Amino acid sequence: MKQRGATVWFTGLSGAGKTTIRMAVEKVLRDRGLNVEVLDGDIVRQYLTRDLGFSKADRDENIRRIGFVSHLLTRNGVIVLVSAISPYAAMRQEVREQIGDFVEVYANAPLSVCESRDVKGLYKKARAGEIKQFTGIDDPYEAPTNPEVECRTDLEALEESAAKVLAYLESKGYIP
Ligand code: PPS
Ligand code: MG
Repeated sequence: MKQRGATVWFTGLSGAGKTTIRMAVEKVLRDRGLNVEVLDGDIVRQYLTRDLGFSKADRDENIRRIGFVSHLLTRNGVIVLVSAISPYAAMRQEVREQIGDFVEVYANAPLSVCESRDVKGLYKKARAGEIKQFTGIDDPYEAPTNPEVECRTDLEALEESAAKVLAYLESKGYIP
């Protein structure tokens, strides 16, 4: 039987754990022999959306392109793992409707925690005014109100977060 496609969309602040949880989920899915594709904002922005910055219009366009590719892959039975801040609720709703088989995962940690992690040193730069329009500092993040899965990455272990996502996918029949 053909694998049922879905897009698992990780949203959250920079440093909240989108990429980290995505990688853990990805490994399990690949080990099970499933067809998986990854669209991570950081990587997509080097190729598909290289021309875009971080204005609202550019972020919306980034999400629109990622959403379109996800839609194509999903309808061909791929499990698509998207990790992108995707700060605007209206855009997440737009791609949700386009894709249909859509699982929103909120990587949630307080800004103070993301900032203290500062994995890439971007918060420091944003606070110093060296990066403008940084999400959570001087640019908005509209938190999901009803995500399929919420991972409190400041409170739960990575394994727990990944297990929640996988359990949800199993419960919906997206993974055998
Ligand atoms: S968006 O809002 O969904 O279009 O953003 P995304 O494509 O996920 O890109 C976010 C990554 O870009 C880096 N970065 C910034 N993030 C937020 N705001 C500003 N101004 C910014 N400038 C660069 C950052 O590394 C983000 O990666 P993550 O993995 O989220 O930390
Ligand atoms: Mg990331």
